Amino acid sequence: MVPPIVQTSLFTFSSYGEMEATYRGEKVRPTYTRGLNPTVRHFEEMLARLEGGEDALGFASGMAAISSTVLSFVEPGDRIVCVRHCYPDAYRLFGTLLKRYRIEVTYVDGLDEDAVAKALPGAKLFYMESPTNWVMEAHDARALARRHGVTSLIDNSWASPIFQQPLALGVDLVVHSASKYLGGHSDVVAGSKAHIQKIKSVAYPYLGGKLSPFDAWLLIRRLRTLPMRMKAHEAAALSIARRLAAHDAVETVCHPGLGNQLPPGLSGTSGLFSFIFKEGVDVPAFTNALSLFQLGVSWGGHESLIVPGAPIF
Ligand SMILES: Cc1ncc(COP(=O)(O)O)c(C=O)c1O
Repeated sequence: MVPPIVQTSLFTFSSYGEMEATYRGEKVRPTYTRGLNPTVRHFEEMLARLEGGEDALGFASGMAAISSTVLSFVEPGDRIVCVRHCYPDAYRLFGTLLKRYRIEVTYVDGLDEDAVAKALPGAKLFYMESPTNWVMEAHDARALARRHGVTSLIDNSWASPIFQQPLALGVDLVVHSASKYLGGHSDVVAGSKAHIQKIKSVAYPYLGGKLSPFDAWLLIRRLRTLPMRMKAHEAAALSIARRLAAHDAVETVCHPGLGNQLPPGLSGTSGLFSFIFKEGVDVPAFTNALSLFQLGVSWGGHESLIVPGAPIF
């Protein structure tokens, strides 16, 4: 019932002939965990199925998956189109490392389909995230992914495959911060075999941020309870968001479930949302007075967390 944790960095060959056949690609078997490990593979196949993709790759962290994917598709002189309010470290990756390699990024309002359509021609990659960080803008992923020959990628950490399946909406690749709802300390990217092979050809030999067998094993366990956990996150967060929205001290609550309608393709809401106080509220005193919520970054676990801050752009 439970796959073993194959905790090894390498796999020996039974003979010279087997080694040769493996290197020639005639035999597919693990040789080195950074490239292929049975426990990690089990998780990758589960995730590919959950997202309705042909294949998936597990990474050691969110930024390993995001940077490996982006670097597999762009070259110096290329341009990326990215929705505004994406995860801040992705934004910093674009503004620092990628800038060094003359890769330009155009930011667009993901709620404005015409602006997205205008920005896409000539771009190499369309980087989406929906709902977005901090302000929780929920986009119509199907409308935005209507191609223009640009490979599209979406960060689906917030909705999880339970509430949004972007590959069925026409997006090419899905990235998850698996330390959120999927539940480990890792990241994963899913998509077509061809796209995944392209990422693997860069990520395996050159970048190497592979998911570990133990983390893959933890993720396999956690995936089994994902549908029930998502429903609990949805109910708890919505009840708090509604109470905050009705509170005199609160200016705005940014939660996609409080609007009239979710965009087509998003069938539920999860546990992360933000709210803005009216002028004059003592935020440090409010934060320190909380007893159930602890101060801490990240989200998606069993704990209740709060972090004061503002969107970076
Ligand atoms: C939406 C989103 N994407 C990606 C990441 C990066 O994931 P990781 O922290 O696993 O590197 C995070 C982390 O908070 C995130 O919130």
